[in-house]
Amino acid sequence: MTRNLVISSRCSLFLILFFLLVSASLTATSAQWIWPKPRTLSWPSPLATILSPNFTISSPYHQHLSPAVKRYRLQILTEHHRPLVPPPVNLSNSSPHLQVLTITVKDLAAPLQHSVDESYALVIPTASSTANLPAETVWGAMRGLETFSQLVWGLKPLLVPVGLDVWDSPLFEHRGIILDTSRNYYPVDDILRTIKAMSANKLNVFHWHVTDSHSFPLMLPSEPALAEKGSYGNDMLYSPADVATIVRFGLEHGVRVLPEIDSPAHTGSWAEAYPDIVTCANMFWWPAESEWADRLASEPGTGQLNPLNPNTYQVLKNVIGDAVALFPERFFHAGGDEIIPGCWKADPAIQSFLSKNGTLSQLLEKFVNTTFPYIVSLNRTVVYWEDILLDADVKVDPSFLPPEHTILQTWNKGPNNTKLIVSSGYRAIVSSSEFYYLDCGHGDFPGNDSQYDPPPTSDDSGNGGSWCGPFKTWQTIYNYDIAYGLTPEETKLVLGGEVALWSEQADPTVLDVRIWPRASAMAETLWSGNRDESGKKRYAEAMDRLNEWRHRMVNKGIRAEPLQPLWCIKNPGMCNTVHPSD
Ligand SMILES: *[C@@H]1O[C@H](CO)[C@@H](O)[C@H](O)[C@H]1NC(C)=O
Ligand SMILES: *[C@@H]1O[C@H](CO)[C@@H](O)[C@H](O)[C@H]1NC(C)=O
Ligand SMILES: *[C@@H]1O[C@H](CO)[C@@H](O)[C@H](O)[C@H]1NC(C)=O
Ligand SMILES: *[C@@H]1O[C@H](CO)[C@@H](O)[C@H](O)[C@H]1NC(C)=O
Ligand SMILES: *[C@@H]1O[C@H](CO)[C@@H](O)[C@H](O)[C@H]1NC(C)=O
Ligand SMILES: *[C@@H]1O[C@H](CO)[C@@H](O)[C@H](O)[C@H]1NC(C)=O
Ligand SMILES: *[C@@H]1O[C@H](CO)[C@@H](O)[C@H](O)[C@H]1NC(C)=O
Repeated sequence: MTRNLVISSRCSLFLILFFLLVSASLTATSAQWIWPKPRTLSWPSPLATILSPNFTISSPYHQHLSPAVKRYRLQILTEHHRPLVPPPVNLSNSSPHLQVLTITVKDLAAPLQHSVDESYALVIPTASSTANLPAETVWGAMRGLETFSQLVWGLKPLLVPVGLDVWDSPLFEHRGIILDTSRNYYPVDDILRTIKAMSANKLNVFHWHVTDSHSFPLMLPSEPALAEKGSYGNDMLYSPADVATIVRFGLEHGVRVLPEIDSPAHTGSWAEAYPDIVTCANMFWWPAESEWADRLASEPGTGQLNPLNPNTYQVLKNVIGDAVALFPERFFHAGGDEIIPGCWKADPAIQSFLSKNGTLSQLLEKFVNTTFPYIVSLNRTVVYWEDILLDADVKVDPSFLPPEHTILQTWNKGPNNTKLIVSSGYRAIVSSSEFYYLDCGHGDFPGNDSQYDPPPTSDDSGNGGSWCGPFKTWQTIYNYDIAYGLTPEETKLVLGGEVALWSEQADPTVLDVRIWPRASAMAETLWSGNRDESGKKRYAEAMDRLNEWRHRMVNKGIRAEPLQPLWCIKNPGMCNTVHPSD
């Protein structure tokens, strides 16, 4: 092949600059700048060709894939990404311009649900103007499109590697972010931007912790009073049309939208519409002179559903029925965390039940025995927080939670609780607060808090008052092995992980910086691991790529926080603790 280029003068200037810059002595592996790193990528000689301005993507028609194809083509042709450290690549003098990316999909009908095949291959040949992206499902094709889009860079012309071969598939099937929209509200656009960024990071589950004690922003057709009275206001709600928008947007980005309606605790906001079904609503959370064990909630904002009141179940069945109708997702998260005995004990009927030798756990069992089978009857797998089984005071007997219908999400005691869950035969989603809580490290939020008086008066002072402090750095997140200490059989029960943004101290102003690029760190670990071929942790190499990826995300409109001074990025290796050549 001969080069057949018409290059504008601006363009040749760029090419000259480009060749000057590529003389930097970088290794070819550092040019594999995709995030998350593919499972296997081969690119024996670092050569690139020009992406034709007429570049097209050919793909079978599919309701959700076709909009993604259109979006990616536009992005590829208009993004004009310029890496901070130009990749050490030469222009091939024998490759034709790349004209077409051809997508083929084996199973066009596979729905977006847990364990759907997300594998894809990507072949960009040296001697053809067509690249190929075969995938098992449209969801795999979307992952491959993202990878391809990250390979294109340059101002004018656009460049793309040639002689490159990728095969890719995630290590863990469940890779998510929890966003809490009850403590503080996020407009729909913020949620869509988050889902878009998730898709770019190959994350596939948006776990929407939509309600809690503080507000109930979800407008449900059968129970409109809950949001009318329990939301922060008419302008801080999610209508059924909003939910449909978010769900469809998720489908077009390969992201499932998994709703969580937390109960029986974390339900103070329900009392605005139904005071009779909520115990201890709107009381002061920790009365003066009382012990920590006798407080009414885990934080300010009290209220728990009353398991002895039949009206509780009437409202709940409407809520669950509506939520299942709004969200096609096959998992339904029913909460079940942090039941605080003091709140139930504040209710006279419950007091009387307990005084007749009834137990707190029996109350929860009654609650679960009434709600769990209903959710299962709606063809949903129920996700609960680990507390429902592992809490010291209020938990159910495992016989109430058949493993085939139950998944437990773990958040305490790091790998220890993951082990407890999977060794009991349950599938687990890992959100260990020691590693995966993105909100930690910003102090505590109750006012007039004497722990900040000098000298320090509390054991929490080392964490700056944050119960789950310190701040989880990207390295903490990247290096966490969610299957640590498990047997291979147990590891199979770990579906994956979710980082969590609880929103007591977050709202749209900090949404992006709290999430990104730390969620990217988990995204790579769950996609292709955190180790190199020799089994060593690869955080050093990852930092260079994550810097570039963060830079690229910022240019895409995601306000991801920086990891290093720009100087470090422009002087590769110079900010390491040990110089790479030593
Ligand atoms: C792009 O397509 C137009 C019209 O189809 C054609 O005239 C032009 O030469 C093409 N350019 C490239 C670089 O292939
Ligand atoms: C690019 O080409 C130059 C000159 O032919 C060569 O010295 C250099 O090693 C090439 N760079 C790469 C990354 O292949
Ligand atoms: C409660 O349990 C105690 C000890 O098991 C028993 O003596 C007592 O009769 C029980 N009270 C009631 C009301 O069942
Ligand atoms: C659970 O509920 C069913 C009826 O729905 C009842 O037959 C069963 O006894 C209950 N189990 C317990 C342990 O309460
Ligand atoms: C129940 O869910 C499964 C997937 O989890 C699906 O294949 C099946 O069609 C559903 N059944 C009904 C009745 O909706
Ligand atoms: C996990 O268990 C080990 C061994 O019992 C213990 O040393 C460690 O502190 C536990 N970790 C956490 C976070 O509780
Ligand atoms: C803060 O709390 C202390 C102890 O309860 C109380 O004496 C003081 O008046 C409170 N100050 C304010 C500003 O609320």
